[in-house]
Amino acid sequence: MTKHLKLKVKNTQLAAALKQSKEKKEKQLTLQRKESEKVQKPSGTPKKKPLNLVAGQQSARDIKSEMAKIPVVPPTTPVEPDKPEEEVSIPKAGQPTPTSPPSRSLPDSQPPKTEKRTPPKTLSFENLKKREKEKEPAPGNKTAPKTNIGHTPPNMRRQQNLRFDTRDRQGLRLGEERTWRRRPPRHKIPKTSIETVRPKELSIHIPVSVKDLAQAMKLKASELISKLLMQGVTTTINDLLDDETTIQLLGQEFDCEISIDTSEERRLRITDKTIREEIQETDPAKLELRAPVITFMGHVDHGKTALIDCIRKSNIAGEEAGAITQHIGAFKCHREHGDITILDTPGHEAFGLMRQRGSALTDVLVLVIAGDEGIMPQTKEAITLAKQSDIPVIVAINKSDKPAFDAKRVHCQLADHELLSEAWGGSVITVNCSATTGEGISQLIEMLILQSEILELKANPNTRARGTVLESELHKGFGPIVTLLVQNGTLHLSNALIFEDIYARVKTMHNEYGKVIESAGPSTPVKITGLSGIPSAGCEFIVVESEKEARKLSEKRASGAKRSSLKRSRGELENLMSHQQELSEKKVLNFILRADVQGSVEAVRTSLLGIPTKKVELVFISEGVGEISESDVKLAAASNAVIIGFNTHVENHAEELIKHCKVVVKKRNIIYQIIDDVKELMLASLDKIVQESEVGTAEIKQIFKSSHFGTIAGCLVTGGTIKRNQYAKLFREDKVIWEGNIISLKHIKEDVKEVGKGGECGILLERCNHYQEGDLIKTFEISYIQQSL
Ligand code: GTP
Ligand code: MG
Repeated sequence: MTKHLKLKVKNTQLAAALKQSKEKKEKQLTLQRKESEKVQKPSGTPKKKPLNLVAGQQSARDIKSEMAKIPVVPPTTPVEPDKPEEEVSIPKAGQPTPTSPPSRSLPDSQPPKTEKRTPPKTLSFENLKKREKEKEPAPGNKTAPKTNIGHTPPNMRRQQNLRFDTRDRQGLRLGEERTWRRRPPRHKIPKTSIETVRPKELSIHIPVSVKDLAQAMKLKASELISKLLMQGVTTTINDLLDDETTIQLLGQEFDCEISIDTSEERRLRITDKTIREEIQETDPAKLELRAPVITFMGHVDHGKTALIDCIRKSNIAGEEAGAITQHIGAFKCHREHGDITILDTPGHEAFGLMRQRGSALTDVLVLVIAGDEGIMPQTKEAITLAKQSDIPVIVAINKSDKPAFDAKRVHCQLADHELLSEAWGGSVITVNCSATTGEGISQLIEMLILQSEILELKANPNTRARGTVLESELHKGFGPIVTLLVQNGTLHLSNALIFEDIYARVKTMHNEYGKVIESAGPSTPVKITGLSGIPSAGCEFIVVESEKEARKLSEKRASGAKRSSLKRSRGELENLMSHQQELSEKKVLNFILRADVQGSVEAVRTSLLGIPTKKVELVFISEGVGEISESDVKLAAASNAVIIGFNTHVENHAEELIKHCKVVVKKRNIIYQIIDDVKELMLASLDKIVQESEVGTAEIKQIFKSSHFGTIAGCLVTGGTIKRNQYAKLFREDKVIWEGNIISLKHIKEDVKEVGKGGECGILLERCNHYQEGDLIKTFEISYIQQSL
């Protein structure tokens, strides 16, 4: 208790002492102010309050503003021993401070005095400050802290950081304690120039982006871009360069020899050899005879399918929609003379690509010509294809049972196309036959076998399978199904295949009769499932080691295809502006196309795009194999497109949506019906032409004013008939000054429907009262005419 009391007494004494010193300071401060005012007034400088940090009478903002004006001075404060110096008054920059001790603002004019220091008798905040000052190094000292740390001079900072605590009270605080707070000076790392070593030789994969090439050449991308610009190639940093010469020229500009690394490309291609080359290069001991691939080609309805049916003893023709072939058909046929593989092609002009594919795979071409019709456009096309591919041709002059059958005429026409028949002393085999009666069919088969024997067609059945896609489709349950023709090697179940950018593992394999088979040798057409997507018809396939390998290859190929398609689309974008102008002048019809097989999609598209017109543009916003789905309907609704379904159906749940969205769906099984439908749509999209035909003429003879009707034109009908409510024009000196409808027609105060030539009438025109005598009123009949495509 007594201890507590003593402490209390001590504290009150301390407080009283502090109070006294505070009052003393205030008095000194007021004196200082008065004196400084006296000094400042004559010079005319604006009055500034000296900053008293100790007294704490200024606000924080004032202190801050004053501090900003403080000149940075080294912390040199000589202390007078006897005089208790508790005040730090910071004067304005360059202004002398009248008070003693010597001002800190004039360190240069007054060198610091070295006086004997005595510690203050009482322990107070001011004494502590003094101690701190004593510990500060002399102005000349090299180790003196820099005054420009941050924005606050160091002495000010120190004052702000000071806190009076127990250690101060007991005199235990050491000056050095604060030194740890000082941030060590940062040593700047001297910049050293690094010399870039550019490669003299480089091997790159193409396509390569400008950025990657620059990185490989240790250059800035901008340097490459500017060099390319000088070569007339405008590029951006992310553009892909795929032209070997451009890249190599670019390398030469920077003394770098660039070689194109094609190893990856070769790996992706698997082999550079074509199937024919591969067979030719195979050891003859490994080769075995294979069935010939015979393609039947010719004009529509000349009896190709009928002849095939006759050979195979099947009835394909009878099952065809519209009695026309719309798919490529592939069949293996077993005859006593040997096996033959037959490809049936459509004769309709729309299926040109299918015919091309057929001709590319064939060993012998059977040109079917109806004897009663002779050579027609698609026959000529087949002859051209045969010549291009240098395939032996056998001409089947069909429909020999018909009375109009004329083989001689056909021979003559063939000669015109440089196909001289054997009968005419040439080398082209011709057979007169009839699919209906069966006449000449066995002779035709004989000739086919003979021809293939001459060709000595061989393949290696004991190697990995290679071949071509004849057709691909999407099955609801099985997914993508593809019809392949194995051309070399043998395809087995579970084999891993790679198509362009699609891979497969053969899950099921069927022959043309739907029979499950486990392997398919050369010249065998098969249907397989287990594909990752729908490959395009006509693309090649090859068996690879494993499914994993096939997937990897397909991914790489797909990314390459994506890159090139991106490049293409950029090019297309550049042409878009010029195309936009054309489009604005045309009507645009959007379509979504769905078909049963890939070949049909391209056939429908090409035949629709082939419709001759300059007024309507057809745009296929989506196309593919499969049924018409809900998403197709939604897309059609959003893009105002018409859906075309060729040989396909609408998904069950999409029917409702079609009705709801009011989307137009044209579903057909025959290609020319689709063409007709689209033609109709194209015509409907065109604006009708307005046609005016003159019906009657009346001359205004007199003007009548009526309070009830307004101005009435009194006319004499000079030509034709003037009818009420007819469209009319008011002519003055051959210039049209009004046009509209006749709203009233009168003959002697009576309303009439029409007035004939020579009759007088009163005519009231709609919202017109500026008639003049001598003006002509001509009436017209308006009709709307449909434009042609
Ligand atoms: P596309 O496949 O559509 O090009 O026709 P195509 O060449 O396959 O003709 P297709 O076999 O479908 O026969 C067309 C029509 O000709 C059918 O009505 C057949 O019945 C008929 N036809 C075919 N061959 C003969 C024939 O030898 N004699 C007669 N009289 N008619 C035939
Ligand atoms: Mg046919």
